[in-house]
Amino acid sequence: MQIAPSILSADFAALGDAIRRVSDVADLLHVDVMDGHFVPNLTIGPPVVAAIDRHTSLPLDCHLMMTNPGDFLEPFRRAGADWISVHVEVDGTASLLAEMRALGVGIGLAINPETPFEAIEPWLGDLDHVLVMTVHPGFGGQSFMGEVMPKLRAIAAANATRGRPAIIEVDGGIDVATIVQVAEAGATCFVAGNAVFGRDDPAAAVRALRHAAEGTVGAGR
Ligand code: DX5
Ligand code: ZN
Repeated sequence: MQIAPSILSADFAALGDAIRRVSDVADLLHVDVMDGHFVPNLTIGPPVVAAIDRHTSLPLDCHLMMTNPGDFLEPFRRAGADWISVHVEVDGTASLLAEMRALGVGIGLAINPETPFEAIEPWLGDLDHVLVMTVHPGFGGQSFMGEVMPKLRAIAAANATRGRPAIIEVDGGIDVATIVQVAEAGATCFVAGNAVFGRDDPAAAVRALRHAAEGTVGAGR
């Protein structure tokens, strides 16, 4: 089980402090990159990722909500991205994955709530992680979309038959209740923004999410 706090819900004017608060308990740091085209919001680019990388030893999981991610794979890799996800809704998936492979970064494909299973099925087996969106991307703090659950189960089932199964990562509306549902459906990596940085004690919030996902009260880190 991996917990990936999303800095989208942190105080952008005190990012270093926010990241320090989860660095001993989180597995990854999820970085939401929004371009104002693919999604109706703008966030951060490679210079900020480079600054974050200097502040933490946590692997950086960069979620590129961009129309033209191919123009930025190398800059994000150079800035310190360890995992990168591009969206399957963007054209040129084969060459994007090939470029990520050449860059030596964790290869991920993200899939929006309304995009069908069939869009991602051909790529399973080529990926290190699948990022299943359980909200419409663009903003933190939205409600979990339960209607994505059948697709999540289909992705987990198909993934398990591949020679090289990907990590199943979920993103959007994850809290101590919804994390149980998605873990039961086969997810093992959980992005959480509001449920971590919206809390007074982000480290305790990460521990609570991990305990809920593992189904064991009081165990774990
Ligand atoms: C949404 C982002 C998410 C977001 C999740 O566009 O991709 O990573 O930060 O935030 P919560 O956990 O608050 O739904
Ligand atoms: Zn995200």
